[in-house]
Amino acid sequence: MAAIRIDGKAFAARLREQVGERAAQFSDATGRKAGLAVVLVGEDPASQVYVRSKGKATVAANMASFEHRLSADTSQQELEALVDQLNADPAVDGILVQLPLPDHLDEQAVVDRINPAKDVDGLTPVSTGRLALGLNGLVPCTPLGSLMLLKDQLGDLSGLDAVVIGRSILVGKPMAQLLLDANATVTIAHSRTRDLAEVVKRADIVVAAVGRAEMVKAEWLKEGATVIDVGINRLPPEPGADKGRLVGDVAYDEASEVAGAITPVPGGVGPMTIAVLLRNTLVAAYQNEGLDMPELTL
Ligand code: GUN
Repeated sequence: MAAIRIDGKAFAARLREQVGERAAQFSDATGRKAGLAVVLVGEDPASQVYVRSKGKATVAANMASFEHRLSADTSQQELEALVDQLNADPAVDGILVQLPLPDHLDEQAVVDRINPAKDVDGLTPVSTGRLALGLNGLVPCTPLGSLMLLKDQLGDLSGLDAVVIGRSILVGKPMAQLLLDANATVTIAHSRTRDLAEVVKRADIVVAAVGRAEMVKAEWLKEGATVIDVGINRLPPEPGADKGRLVGDVAYDEASEVAGAITPVPGGVGPMTIAVLLRNTLVAAYQNEGLDMPELTL
C-alpha cells in the first residue's frame, strides 16, 4: 500500500497562522512587534532565497523583520560588531546568522557571540547545552519541525526505534536529543556507520539528514516505517532543462511503496523550518518581555 504523504506545507501554514495570531496579541500587550534579525554574508544564491522568504514570512506573521546583508569580504570584527549591536537592540528578539558563512570567517565564534536569549536558531553553547540537559530552551528549527510532524503522525513516540542519519549540529544531533526526550530509542548513524542499510531496517522512525540525493532506498526500510526526509538536493539538469529536479535524501517513489508515511521534497520538512523560526522568535519575544506565551495548540 502506498505510504501516507506527510503534508509539511499545510502543517507549516497552520503553525504560521497560529504564530501570527499570538504575535498580534504580543504587540497589543507590549506596544511593539516581536522582531527577527537575519544576517546574510555574501551572495550565495540559495541563502539569498532563504533569507528573502524568511523576511516575507516574518512580516506576514505580524512581526518586524530586520535584514542585514553584508558583502562577502566582511571581516570577523565587523560581523561580530553587528551581532553585538543586535544583542543590545530591544526591538530585536531573535538573531539568525545564515550559515554557511564565507570560509575566512569563524562560524562558531560568531554564533557564540549571539545572546542566548535571542538564539532562535538554537545553536549557541547555552541552547545546545540546555537541550542536552533536557531543559527548556530555544531548539534548532528543522529538527523541532520534524519532531512536530512525527508527533502529529504517530502520537506518542515512546519506545519506538528511531534512526537519525547524519550528525550535524544543525539537524542530526539536536534531532537525536529531541527523539530521546520523547522516549524513543535513538541511533545516530553517519558516514562511518557499518551496514547502514541494516541499521535503518530496524527503525520505526527514519530521519535522513545527510545531503546525498536519494541515498536511502526502499529495501533499507522496515515495512510501515515513518520517514522524515530533511535533504534538499538538486539533481543535474535533464537535457534541455536549465535546472535539475529537487530531491531529498530518500528515493521517494520507491520508498513510498514500503513506508507507512513519508515527507515529500519539496513540501515536507522545508516549510516547517521557517514556521518554527517564527515560533521561536515569538517564544523569545515573550521571554524577553518576562511574559507567559499563550499555548500553541499544534
Ligand atoms: N542554513 C541552512 N539552514 C539553516 C538554519 O536553520 N539556520 C541557519 N542559521 N543557517 C542555515
